[in-house]
Amino acid sequence: MTSSKIRVGVMFGGRSGEHEVSLRSAKSVIDAMDRERYDIVPIAITKQGRWLASSDATQLLPQAVIDEGDTDVAIVGDPTRGELVRLDHGPGPIALGRLDVVFPVLHGTYGEDGTIQGLLELAGLPYVGSGVLGSAAGMDKIVMKMLFRDAGLPIVPFVHFTRTQWEADRETVLDGIGRELGYTVFAKPANLGSSVGITKAVDRTSLGAAIDEAARFDRRIVVEQGIDAREIEVAVLGNDAPSASVPGEIIPHADFYDYATKYVSDVAEYAIPAALEDDQAAIIRDLAVRAFLAVDAAGLGRVDFFVERETGRVFVNEINTMPGFTKISMYPKLWEASGLTYGQLIDRLIELAFDRHKETARSERSVG
Ligand SMILES: Nc1ncnc2c1ncn2[C@@H]1O[C@H](COP(=O)(O)OP(=O)(O)O)[C@@H](O)[C@H]1O
Ligand SMILES: [Mg+2]
Repeated sequence: MTSSKIRVGVMFGGRSGEHEVSLRSAKSVIDAMDRERYDIVPIAITKQGRWLASSDATQLLPQAVIDEGDTDVAIVGDPTRGELVRLDHGPGPIALGRLDVVFPVLHGTYGEDGTIQGLLELAGLPYVGSGVLGSAAGMDKIVMKMLFRDAGLPIVPFVHFTRTQWEADRETVLDGIGRELGYTVFAKPANLGSSVGITKAVDRTSLGAAIDEAARFDRRIVVEQGIDAREIEVAVLGNDAPSASVPGEIIPHADFYDYATKYVSDVAEYAIPAALEDDQAAIIRDLAVRAFLAVDAAGLGRVDFFVERETGRVFVNEINTMPGFTKISMYPKLWEASGLTYGQLIDRLIELAFDRHKETARSERSVG
């Protein structure tokens, strides 16, 4: 029963606030994968972090992940195995067969932040998307901004501090922000996503509350100048010489693109391509590639921009190294508008995973 097909472990769910988004992304990916080319091994991760391989690939989402008959599994950090192993003591072989490549369709904490990538590195498996560094840097708004700044990319003025500093001396932190940034500002947890813990503050009092909110979610906090801006996004694809899609625009129809707008009310609209002058679109696409390279991203990344309404000034806001990936998500839609279908995009990402793995394997690990 050996097969020449590529065996792809598709991981989804996970211990993050974006669990449900991941389920939807993974369902789209699995539905679209070419069965002639790929054997799909779905790996569901529950909100508690249990890994389950469902015996029935069609039943994977979302309740089925905790049904009887599912098998507790793990990838172990041993490169000589390169397979999925079962953890329970049921009958049958322990190994569930090799994996050729893993597609971690996981967003946010423990999925997009370098942790799962670290495990896959230890296991010696090729995987879709950024490595440990690119994932971790792209997830951390403070480190990301420092790398962008170092690469000469335009970013919004910001300050950052720890929760410990905030709790020890709120007044000094508030004074510093008032002096350096003025108002309006946005307070954010350094490591999260989906706009969770992000609040707009218009004065000192609301800023105190906004920082308290951000401090619920992270040890490190960033506060940045508020920009009255259009929100433009570009999809980047590739490894060391990536390409950029046409830009798209998010029209939130809300005060800002907050959690409720992203996932609850669904009022946001996309414009693809974004209505931009050609030269401005070219500048933004170039910045997107530079932002991708600045954090050492790989495979895919969606780079988000602010374009100030009054001045047309462009700022790089952030990169998402595992952006929403349903068929109707911005990332695949931008590629579709740039000439690549959803299925072709998946094929390309898997190729890029193998390419990156080979390129990394060329490096010598020790001398002599
Ligand atoms: N400096 C800012 N100026 C204006 N709006 C902002 C600013 N920072 C964030 N926002 C708004 O908040 C949303 C979420 O912030 P973002 O930094 O993209 O975090 P996340 O990683 O959670 O998506 C943005 O899409 C935008 O609508
Ligand atoms: Mg964002």
